[in-house]
Amino acid sequence: MARRKIVAGNWKMNKTPSEAVALVEELKPLVACEDVDVVFCVPAIDIVPVVEAAKGTNIAVGAENMYFEESGAYTGEIAPAMLVDAGVKYVILGHSERRGYFGETNEDVNKKMVKAFEHGLTPIMCCGESLEEREQGVTMDLVRQQVKVGFLGLTADQAKTAVIAYEPIWAIGTGKVATTEQAEEVCAGIRACIAEIYDEATAEAIRIQYGGSVSGSSAPELFAQADIDGGLVGGASLKADFGKIVNYK
Ligand code: PGA
Repeated sequence: MARRKIVAGNWKMNKTPSEAVALVEELKPLVACEDVDVVFCVPAIDIVPVVEAAKGTNIAVGAENMYFEESGAYTGEIAPAMLVDAGVKYVILGHSERRGYFGETNEDVNKKMVKAFEHGLTPIMCCGESLEEREQGVTMDLVRQQVKVGFLGLTADQAKTAVIAYEPIWAIGTGKVATTEQAEEVCAGIRACIAEIYDEATAEAIRIQYGGSVSGSSAPELFAQADIDGGLVGGASLKADFGKIVNYK
């Protein structure tokens, strides 16, 4: 069975609550699409108003991060149950900005993956190499490590419903999209890695996105690749161009 495409916006640290509602109103008609899953991953403070503004549309709401504990003395963190109660369905985990600026490790990401599933949230787990790592030829080793550790302890049934976003760090926010061949090569490698950890059926079911400067013009070719099941979109998710990416066909 063909995998359903999933296009997720990652708003990062942009939009106040009132700006967020205005953006949802603007994008709502543009992202209407029956055969693609559309997700808006928004800052924590925007979640409640965005869930409200997206009611009755095809837009699912995601968080950009969460903590791996249930509750307690973790000042400033957001618990999985808080996200679920607010109407969140997806959560980005292990984005390279969190790994790079906030010191998140593969082990942290794994704990968050396990917690997300315990609470019925679908993780969008990010992986990807820096330019230096690509030039040294360790891209696939590194990405396999991120995926293998990230998925530790998860069952095949859980893995089947997860989303992995392959995002080369050098392509994020730089306007420098990976070539279609580079993106497909790593996404296919990730699928092969999932087949090794689990089995072919799991590898066939899991959805793998490409992320890094995706735009309305690059999406059609990227999303036509055998192992690319959509995109995780930063900059372009804040603009009307996001509608073009969703309706890439
Ligand atoms: P970008 O960001 O589309 O602005 O490159 C992608 C991401 O970081 O998820």
